[in-house]
Amino acid sequence: MDIAMIDDQFLPADELRKPYLDRGLFFGDGVYEVLRSYEGNLFALDEHMARFERSLKEIQIFGIDIKQVQQKVITAYEKCGYANARVYFHITRGSEARREHVPNPNTEPNFFLTIDELHTKPGLKEKGIAVSTQPDWRWKRCDIKSLNLLPNVMAKIEAHKRGAGEAILVGDDGTITEGAGSAFFAVEGKTIITRPLGHEILPSITRAMVMQVAKDAGIEAVEKTLTPKQAAACSELFMAVTTKDVVPITKFDDVVISGGTCGAITNRLIKQFKEFVRHSTR
Ligand SMILES: Cc1ncc(COP(=O)(O)O)c(C=O)c1O
Repeated sequence: MDIAMIDDQFLPADELRKPYLDRGLFFGDGVYEVLRSYEGNLFALDEHMARFERSLKEIQIFGIDIKQVQQKVITAYEKCGYANARVYFHITRGSEARREHVPNPNTEPNFFLTIDELHTKPGLKEKGIAVSTQPDWRWKRCDIKSLNLLPNVMAKIEAHKRGAGEAILVGDDGTITEGAGSAFFAVEGKTIITRPLGHEILPSITRAMVMQVAKDAGIEAVEKTLTPKQAAACSELFMAVTTKDVVPITKFDDVVISGGTCGAITNRLIKQFKEFVRHSTR
C-alpha cells in the first residue's frame, strides 16, 4: 500500500490532495510574480505580466493564457477591497501522483494567488534600512522569477541575525549582484549606479522604473558592477522593490551611509517615483 503522512496522521497515498503533490513543493518547479496597488490602482500590471510570461517560457511551462491570468489578478484585486495591496500569483508545473524529476507531459499547471494589505513602515523613507552583505549562493538563472528561493531565505536569515533588513548578495567574483529580494543602487556624486541586467539578477521592474524616473529628472544612470568596498564608499545607497519602491540604505554592514539618513539624490528619486506612480495610475 502506498502511504503518506500529514500532521502525524497516516493516509493512503492516493487520497493526498493536490497541494501535497505539487511539483512546486517538491522541486520549486514553478514561477511567480508580485505586484502592488497604490490607492486602489494596480501598478505596472503589463510589466509584471510580461515578466511572468517570460519566466514561464524560460522554464518551459507552455499553454498558459496570459490574458486569462491577468484577468484573474484584476478580478481578485477588485474583490479584496484594499487600496494598497500586495498580489502574489504563482504557476507551478502541476501536481503529480508519482514523484519524478521529469514531468509528465499531460500534467496541468496549478495557479495560486494571494492578496494581502500593504502597510508601509512609518519613517522607512527617512531612516532607511540596514543591510548585510552575504554570499550569493543562488543558481545561474536569477533572471527567472522562480519559486526556488532557499538561498534568498538563508541570506535573509543571516542578515536578520545581524540586525539588517535586507541581504545584499555578493557573487563569487566579489561583485554585488542584488538584494535577496530587491534591486541594489549606489549613488556616486550625482550619478546612480546599478548592475547591468544578465543571468545574475532579476530584471526588476522597480529598477527599470527608477532608471526611467532618474532619466526624466536629469539624473545620470550608469550600469556597472560594484564590490562591497566600493559600495560602502559611495555617498548614498538605496534599494528598489515593488512592495516598497525606493528605500534608502543607511547602514551597509558596519558602515553608516550618508550620515544615517536618506541622501539628497535618493530623496529626489523617492519624490519623483511618487509622481511617476501618480501619473501612471491616473
Ligand atoms: C531577487 C530579487 N531582485 C529584485 C527584486 C525587485 O524586483 P521588482 O522591482 O520587480 O519587485 C525582487 C523582488 O521580489 C527580488 O526578489
